[in-house]
Amino acid sequence: MEEKISQIKKEYLHKIQKASTLEQLDEIFIGLFGKNGEVDQLSRQFSTLSKDELKIVGPLFNQIKQELEQAIGNRRQVIKEEIYKSLENETFDIKGNEIKKRTGHMHPLTAFEEETAKIFNKLGFVQIDAPLIDTDYNNFEVLNIPENHPARDLWDTLYLDTTNYQLPTTKLLLRTHTSNSQIRALKSSKLPIRLMNIGRCFRYENLDARHEHTFEQFEIVYVDHGVSMANLQYLSEYFLKAIFGSDIKVRLKPKYYPFVEPGVGVDGLCIFCKGKGCKVCGGIGWLELAGAGMIHPNVLKAGGVDPNEYSGIAWGFGPARMAMIKYGIEDIRLFNSGDLKFLERF
Ligand code: PHE
Repeated sequence: MEEKISQIKKEYLHKIQKASTLEQLDEIFIGLFGKNGEVDQLSRQFSTLSKDELKIVGPLFNQIKQELEQAIGNRRQVIKEEIYKSLENETFDIKGNEIKKRTGHMHPLTAFEEETAKIFNKLGFVQIDAPLIDTDYNNFEVLNIPENHPARDLWDTLYLDTTNYQLPTTKLLLRTHTSNSQIRALKSSKLPIRLMNIGRCFRYENLDARHEHTFEQFEIVYVDHGVSMANLQYLSEYFLKAIFGSDIKVRLKPKYYPFVEPGVGVDGLCIFCKGKGCKVCGGIGWLELAGAGMIHPNVLKAGGVDPNEYSGIAWGFGPARMAMIKYGIEDIRLFNSGDLKFLERF
């Protein structure tokens, strides 16, 4: 037994000295101290020894176990130091590596809105702000949509619960459209008025590929002597040609909005089927691209403008819907998804 123990010691000390990697050392350790390793096997034979023999073999066994363990520890340290040394001289070649630089760019919707603002700016329209949280009065009442009027059903509205805040008792809501800028435009500006408002709007929507609860709108207010439906047709054509190219055809069709009279839906000839009728336009051949109309005399009056002297146009659309058509985007929810795969398409 003593001989066997010495032999194991010799054999393993040699192996330890020869080991050149940490993995090899791990293997040696397991061969010695692991389950069914040399130590395990030896200790299982102890039961066959006499008491006297055990007195000699026991301490020897323990001593050699310790020596070997220490030898492995020392060798591990040496190998580690060699590794650190070799790392010191290592250089990291970043030039040759394929690290792709990722350059950010404007969000497609922001880019589209900037383009829109530029197009109208050329005609003298200037941007104004209107709040995203507004009063029921500015968003609805002043626009000819009194409380309990069925016209409110056109806008699924998110009202704010203000009971626990010290706020005036007026009803507050998340604006449902940029038309809340109309009364501000009329009140704040000297005539003639050419203003535009871009920004977020919110509705209590059933979400699908064409409906978002948070979306953008763009709207202009144009008031002057003798402004008419002819100007509205011109503005619609001017803008849609700038966006979709000069061969787009534009038509106005009657549509009800309480704050304009007459009110119109602005249709563009379907850019996909050129009027033949397809899946995108639902077989109609035309796509409704904007809502507009002659500002209702009640709204003009509320804004301090005399409807007998002046007339005005309100004209607006949803940039996301239009960008979807222009760029062939299949789902409106992609815009706010933060999905890089989508954003990198632009
Ligand atoms: N505010 C209307 C909507 O959200 C669109 C519109 C704007 C209609 C301007 C007429 C004039 O549906």
